Amino acid sequence: MPSLISSITPDLQPEFLQVVDYIYRRMVNLQKGANVLILTDSRMPRKTVIAFQGVAMMIGAEVMVAENRHALPIPMQPSDKWNNMVKAASREADIIVDMSVGYGDFMQEFTERGGVVVSPGDGPGGWCTEESLIRTMLHVDLDALKKEAEHIAELFTEAKTCYITSEEGTDFEIDISDLEGDSMDGFLWDFEKKEYRTSFVFLPPAQPGVIVPRGRGDGVIALDAVIQADPAFGQDYPESPVFVTLEKGRVVDIGGNGFSADRLRIWLESLNSAQAYNGPVHINIGNNPRARFSEISEFERVRGVITFGMGDVSVLSGVLGMADDMEGDLAAPAHWDVVMKRPSLRLDDKIVSRNGIIPSELPPVG
Ligand SMILES: [Fe+2]
Repeated sequence: MPSLISSITPDLQPEFLQVVDYIYRRMVNLQKGANVLILTDSRMPRKTVIAFQGVAMMIGAEVMVAENRHALPIPMQPSDKWNNMVKAASREADIIVDMSVGYGDFMQEFTERGGVVVSPGDGPGGWCTEESLIRTMLHVDLDALKKEAEHIAELFTEAKTCYITSEEGTDFEIDISDLEGDSMDGFLWDFEKKEYRTSFVFLPPAQPGVIVPRGRGDGVIALDAVIQADPAFGQDYPESPVFVTLEKGRVVDIGGNGFSADRLRIWLESLNSAQAYNGPVHINIGNNPRARFSEISEFERVRGVITFGMGDVSVLSGVLGMADDMEGDLAAPAHWDVVMKRPSLRLDDKIVSRNGIIPSELPPVG
């Protein structure tokens, strides 16, 4: 179960302003005069929004806050249809700070036009965003975290095959020979090249990995950490592993823990979509030493866990500008994520993690 947060206060924590300032100046490279659109909803504390609004104003940006209805629950976001007012506002923005939407249908159009998105709570971060970002960003050496994430991304890029195993029963193999690793470290701007490194980042950092084309990956994954699928159950923490069997990038069997396996199986059937069974569509390893299993999606950044994204990849590949490179029908009504707590990750013959532990010294690239 997610641990309860110990340092939530009704007041804005001054440390949060430090974090927001870091995000804008070091990760987004926010400049005076830029148009910033903050998307939020009533689940996000006003004080958290005010911090993003006020710090952007201090830097000299034009800022608009748009509070909207709740987005659909995280797994169902690919099915959401946003109204024209939100789309119109996004057309005038340079930067979106997304604190509610997640995978929105207008985000792809926005990033194709050159806009960039920072998502401080990975979609609807909600009430614990402030505490989470202070803990996972202010108390962490983010330069070292980024460097390590970039190194792991390079190991993904150079590898031909990715192997994931675990004592719990994971035994999975996938061809990644033509895929490029992504450090997914939250830094939008490259200060050396003076250009955007990517169009869409979520926080807290980091979870280096790959986006996977359709039809790849065989074996069994033993899900012993989190299943974020049926919205009725939010984040499900199975008490014993759920075993998902994959053949050529598609779920063919779900077994193990009866309660959680049944929930997942019934929910997938209810979607009436063959595409919802596709996956993995992304594979990532978390490397943040302070991330934990809390109520927002920081669970994917917990150091050493491996996440498989499943189902829809149309929106994710769209906002990252990769949709044209991927073949087949990428769309599904849902995008769901599943997490292994203590897997071992090998890229060709290079061991990136063993039993969920990433060594302080990683194998060299090349
Ligand atoms: Fe995902």
